[in-house]
Amino acid sequence: MSMPPLASGPDGPEALRPLLDTVLDALAAGARARGGPLPAGGPDAVAARVADALGEVLPDDGDPDALRALVHALAEGAVDPGDPLCAAHLHCPPLAVATAADLAASALNPSLDSWDQAPAASALEARVTRALAHHVGLADALVTTGGTESNQLALLLAREAHGGSVRLVCGANAHHSLPRAAWLLGLPDPVVVPAPGGTLDPAALDAALTTLPGPLLVAATAGTTDAGLIDPLPEIARLCAAHGARLHVDAAYGAGLAFSDRHRDKLAGLDTAHTVTLDLHKLGWQPAAAGLLAVARPDELAVLHQRADYLNADDDTEAGLPDLLGRSMRTTRRPDVLKTAVTLKTLGRRGLGALVDQVCAHAEEFAALVRAHPGFELYDRPVISTVLFRPAAADDDAVAAVRRRLLHEGRAVLGRARLDGRLWLKATLLNPHTRPDELAQLLKLVEGTTPA
Ligand SMILES: Cc1ncc(COP(=O)(O)O)c(C=O)c1O
Repeated sequence: MSMPPLASGPDGPEALRPLLDTVLDALAAGARARGGPLPAGGPDAVAARVADALGEVLPDDGDPDALRALVHALAEGAVDPGDPLCAAHLHCPPLAVATAADLAASALNPSLDSWDQAPAASALEARVTRALAHHVGLADALVTTGGTESNQLALLLAREAHGGSVRLVCGANAHHSLPRAAWLLGLPDPVVVPAPGGTLDPAALDAALTTLPGPLLVAATAGTTDAGLIDPLPEIARLCAAHGARLHVDAAYGAGLAFSDRHRDKLAGLDTAHTVTLDLHKLGWQPAAAGLLAVARPDELAVLHQRADYLNADDDTEAGLPDLLGRSMRTTRRPDVLKTAVTLKTLGRRGLGALVDQVCAHAEEFAALVRAHPGFELYDRPVISTVLFRPAAADDDAVAAVRRRLLHEGRAVLGRARLDGRLWLKATLLNPHTRPDELAQLLKLVEGTTPA
């Protein structure tokens, strides 16, 4: 058998070219075969089709058609975040230019654990992370795999800044990765403050901060997972300052608002945080992973310092080779920053801001359609791009059944959220290309699927 070609090296690009044609053709054919936002038939039908396409996982002899067959199977069985009827999660359609940049990252395969594996990538990462941190009013940022890792790092930095322990105080609306990080890091059980209506209650926070012994880390949310709401950041920041508590803001969803002249003010107070979670694979149109943890005090990152002679020997560092190990808890690390850098430069702040404005406007339009429809109830006016709504006459079981039926029939992908003790359908609108008639179609589909 001939040697399989490499993606890197002088012949890499020419070896990739025909394979890319295969991939692009299979993506298109798979999407045509699916014919909607997701495959019909539910988990068993999809698993059976995948098993069929896959055949033997490790055959004795290879199959040159595997690339086409498996990309086709994955596309046919995918949920397409670029379909206007796909609006469940903070799962964005990636920009073509970012995805193309990600191909270059795979072909070059730099690894950001040592300079001698990533000379330009490490220099690029240093500049882009600092610029993005400055954009939200902080000093520097680390690249992460997403909100979960960013929140975990934020708790780790808080623990170390307080000499080994800290108690997390977060809203009932906080993402589950925050209490989970407290568990992982061996911290005391978190104190959960009520979040009536979906945002953290400052009076309850004040009471908690008054009675609890320190050290305390308050985690607020800018862009809640369930409703896209923003905690009252200026008031929370004031309370943290008054009580000597440290502040982390999980802006995994909301940080993208900083690109928009129209919506940036909603993030007022973000720049008072010690750490901020940002996630450009949500409101940033990046293929995953594109997480960041911004920090106000870069000197606190010193606790991440590690020495591994094969990656950052003292004499290499003294001779001027950058030491990258203290920029992450990971060792081998993809240059996820490349696609982000390409996106920032290609679209510019205004270009990204226009996408943010577009999806926020879609949420307003969809909420207006819900409000105008006598058969539906709207939870509240959207703050970012999430709309919670429910058929007015349905009970919780019927609401859940509507969502599952749309999934099973391959017709629409909506999320669900429990707020104020009731179950709501959730439309997270992240596709800037969606048209008004498609928003109306989404509501009509739900109407047609709701039992009378
Ligand atoms: C507010 C918030 N924080 C953190 C996360 C976790 O992000 P990731 O899935 O990128 O780890 C999410 C995910 O939806 C989120 O909504």
